[in-house]
Amino acid sequence: MASLTVNGMSRDFNGDGNMPLLWYIRDELQMTGTKFGCGMALCGACTVHLDGAAVRSCMTPMSAALGKRVTTIEGLDAQGQHPLQVAWRAVGVPQCGYCQSGQIMQAASLLQKNARPSDADIEAAMSGNICRCGTYTRIKAAIKQAAGVKEA
Ligand code: FES
Ligand code: FES
Repeated sequence: MASLTVNGMSRDFNGDGNMPLLWYIRDELQMTGTKFGCGMALCGACTVHLDGAAVRSCMTPMSAALGKRVTTIEGLDAQGQHPLQVAWRAVGVPQCGYCQSGQIMQAASLLQKNARPSDADIEAAMSGNICRCGTYTRIKAAIKQAAGVKEA
């Protein structure tokens, strides 16, 4: 029996190692904060962390997640108080909301590596996360605000 850790909880997995991690998260664990967009690693809606790094869960097979730590939007902060979540609410980033958990998880991995990103750093890190509603300006503002929160 193989296992992985999801949001701090150890989980057993005995299924098909080719199944996308996104299917496991949404269909088996019923954690629906992580979204399906393109299924081809082109939109970023399905972004989660694997051992702390942002990955596209639609294209990550379960075999690559076994033995590792997966963090989804539900586990980023138990109270929803990660600096990015605080900033996202303060700025009022979402429109329809569909892309937003992926945006936040991508941004969280950026801030883990780079606590004071420049505009260019933010643009480079976030360029693969598509927002059909065009909230990019607010996303950038919230990331910068969160970087300030982290600094305090
Ligand atoms: S659903 Fe995974 S990148 Fe679009
Ligand atoms: S808020 Fe609607 S797709 Fe991003």
